[in-house]
Amino acid sequence: ATIHDQKLHRGAGGELHQFAEDGMPVLTTAQGGPVSDDQNTLRVGARGPALIDDFHFREKIFHFDHERIPERVVHARGYGAHGYFETYESLGAYTRADLFQRPGEKTPAFVRFSTVAGSKGSFDLARDVRGFAVKIYTQQGNWDLVGNNIPVFFIQDAIKFPDVIHSVKPEPDRQFPQAQSAHDNFWDFITLTPESMHMIMWVMSDRAIPRSFRFMEGFGVHTFRFVNAADESTFVKFHWKPKLGLQSVAWNEAVKINGADPDFHRRDLWQSIQSGAFPEWELCVQLFDQDFADTFDFDILDPTKIIPEEILPVKPIGRLVLDRMPENFFAETEQVAFMTQNVPPGIDFSNDPLLQGRNFSYLDTQLKRLGGPNFTHLPINAPKCPFHNFQQDGHMAMRNPVGRVNYQPNSWNQGPRESPVQGYRHFPAEEQGPKVRLRPESFADHYSQARQFYISQTPPEQRHIAAALIFELSKVETPVIRERMVSHLMNIDETLASKVGHALGFKSMPKPADAAMPTRQDLEPSPALSIVER
Ligand code: HEM
Repeated sequence: ATIHDQKLHRGAGGELHQFAEDGMPVLTTAQGGPVSDDQNTLRVGARGPALIDDFHFREKIFHFDHERIPERVVHARGYGAHGYFETYESLGAYTRADLFQRPGEKTPAFVRFSTVAGSKGSFDLARDVRGFAVKIYTQQGNWDLVGNNIPVFFIQDAIKFPDVIHSVKPEPDRQFPQAQSAHDNFWDFITLTPESMHMIMWVMSDRAIPRSFRFMEGFGVHTFRFVNAADESTFVKFHWKPKLGLQSVAWNEAVKINGADPDFHRRDLWQSIQSGAFPEWELCVQLFDQDFADTFDFDILDPTKIIPEEILPVKPIGRLVLDRMPENFFAETEQVAFMTQNVPPGIDFSNDPLLQGRNFSYLDTQLKRLGGPNFTHLPINAPKCPFHNFQQDGHMAMRNPVGRVNYQPNSWNQGPRESPVQGYRHFPAEEQGPKVRLRPESFADHYSQARQFYISQTPPEQRHIAAALIFELSKVETPVIRERMVSHLMNIDETLASKVGHALGFKSMPKPADAAMPTRQDLEPSPALSIVER
């Protein structure tokens, strides 16, 4: 075929469509240049050295060499879907957030479910917390509710986050990826961190091995604020309730599924959405004021505590429907950037010290992971409402301010303006006090809610918790760590503690643990510890 025959075709805009000899479009480089041979590098003679002239080879290999971006430092393995949020009723009395004003209104959404500890290639049925991150593209900018399927967290202060994550990720020396079975570092950290006990009971429960993403609850975890047009604040906790109800698998099922089909959860989501069985969750809220908060012994700023739904029932305010899979996993699910600090006017933060740390961490991590400040230019992260600002340039900029003016104030009457009326106003909470590093006394009770969770479980569920603890702790090689965990269980439920202790071969039960976080000096060096450390 020659360049003059019917293999060339000009489009309506004059663009040249080139077709290969079999009628398929011609392969091109990223620069658009047509390629003649994609099977052989350019060489001197059939058996000679390769030539640097081969720009097609170099571009192809260069691009391949750069395919990977850093996986998320946590929640690396995830699966996303598109859908919408539908508002049930006007919540104008509580919040000025536009998405909550008009019943029946639908707002586009993207959700990413994830495990926390494992790497991108780990298996779906690991015993782990599941991420439940929702991005709602509201008319006042994106709202990210970056939650989990467990309503509490391991730690009370974000400064401990690198520690808890390092303890659960592979050890620096041996790098055994252990998304599933226990190991000493994790249980060492947990048993030295009594505030994690409530979360640990959830993680040892069936909640940590969900049957599918479709049968999971989701939680915003922290106390947030709704703020209405009169700048009045109401505390709010967010819950996602699955329409299909809650279901988990049993541990022996999880182990088999992981072996037979490590992609079980993502396949389930893919198949259900592709077949038209769209999963659905109701967004529910617990709304309360400071007087109500003051009735509890615990602090509503403490992310290791829940407000029991028996005391404050949840109120459904809308529903989330997932009805479309991404066309491109990398462009959408991998590059989506959730950030707790993405809130529209009418939703605000509380002083929860974990939330406040997260509000720093997510922007920072996206900058690293997505390679620069323009990750909002990616379609999955861009707002779906009109937006205008003076930000410009930077790596991979897809848009810049148009025209002469890229600053304000300016004398040309150009560009967007700030608006005290339409714009985001932070709730003007009164704050006062000395600068200190101090855990408040109201954050000190680490066992009551762990106990409440355990006793709220049915007998088979309680047996699963005991079995999970026995299995996990039996993998812990260091006796003092096992003992320490059982001493915490003594504060949660003595029957559970003795069941676990006996199964681990304890001759006698340890004393109940001291609730205070131990200091380094309190830790007695044990012979076993030093052996394992080497
Ligand atoms: C990622 C939830 C605490 C730092 C995530 C994701 C979820 C999540 C769901 C995955 C987002 C996605 O699918 O792309 C939570 C919850 C927390 C919590 C519910 C506590 C209640 C923290 C804290 C920090 C933190 C305390 C740091 C101070 C990160 C980072 C990522 C992440 C760096 C990776 C983000 C990315 O690369 O896209 N978190 N997290 N998280 N979280 Fe958290």
